[in-house]
Amino acid sequence: MGGTGGASRTAVMVCQGRAVAHGRLAVGRFDDPTALAFLLPAERGIVEQVRSGTTPAGWGPRLAFEMVRACAEVMAPRTVAIDDAVRQALPATPDGVPAARAQVVILGAGLDGRAWRMADLAATPVFEVDHPASQHDKRIRAGGLVPAGAPPRFVPVDFSRDDLAAALAAAGHRRSIPTIWIWEGVVPYLTRGQAARTLRIVGDRSAPGSRLIVHYHTSAPSAPLGRWASRLISALSRQSNPMAREPNRSVWTPRAMRRAVDARGFGVARDDSLLALARDLDTPIQHRRSLRNGRILVADRIPTPSSPAPDPTTYQSPR
Ligand SMILES: C[S@@+](CC[C@H](N)C(=O)[O-])C[C@H]1O[C@@H](n2cnc3c(N)ncnc32)[C@H](O)[C@@H]1O
Repeated sequence: MGGTGGASRTAVMVCQGRAVAHGRLAVGRFDDPTALAFLLPAERGIVEQVRSGTTPAGWGPRLAFEMVRACAEVMAPRTVAIDDAVRQALPATPDGVPAARAQVVILGAGLDGRAWRMADLAATPVFEVDHPASQHDKRIRAGGLVPAGAPPRFVPVDFSRDDLAAALAAAGHRRSIPTIWIWEGVVPYLTRGQAARTLRIVGDRSAPGSRLIVHYHTSAPSAPLGRWASRLISALSRQSNPMAREPNRSVWTPRAMRRAVDARGFGVARDDSLLALARDLDTPIQHRRSLRNGRILVADRIPTPSSPAPDPTTYQSPR
């Protein structure tokens, strides 16, 4: 982890991307009023600059500006695709009101604002799992924000060494109720082994009706170039490199990710590149490579004899 006190810097970077995109990209489909609120005053300047479209003078500021602008281009389709997949999986009561018969677990939540901004989650328990340092930082930042429903339950876990299953159980996550798992922007920072371990626990704790949403990166020749550009931007703009202490540790082919998810009892419903999603949304496509290398996979639990038994008092199939 990087940043003050070890909190994630990449979480701030993607939050800046959402803050730039809010009200400007995919209007009517993308909306994140919490993003700016999660940022500290020192992190908002560049957001305002990109939103105003005033290109700064000098190489360093210019490169930093382009990096945040590119991030916004990625965050709009990524967020919309995940929000849509969450809404589709939420069970509804007969009057159409989302019921508390599911739970949401956000793995590596960073500055994700869904528990505050998604009215659809008002009746659904939300668990936010993250590295203890990042989570501590978020809890301070979230102080003034009002959650959509009950406040999210914070579950501090370092995926590289902590027991995710025990932490979730202790926080009140129930194996007998369908879970909507959001695993966004985290897989690249885990080794294959850490990702596989996490997936095993996700599989073990997924009742029938559960959905897994994974954002992952495919292998790309541009990745080393991106890291080099990030280092250069930081040196020129005299800001800390957000990727310095959060190096990429794994990339996946769509086939490998599908196999990993299949092996844990999920069936893939869709797996789209961010580029295809951006085209559908008609959002800007200036940073084609970043968009092409990111993918959103949506998979649903296939009931098996070893699936946790549904709780008859609370379970209801998703639509
Ligand atoms: C790029 S941010 C993504 C945050 C959020 N999911 C989003 O998309 O806005 C990466 C997140 O992964 C978390 N993370 C990375 N490695 C981790 C680890 N070993 N254990 C727990 N969390 C980790 C960081 O704390 C950070 O919140």
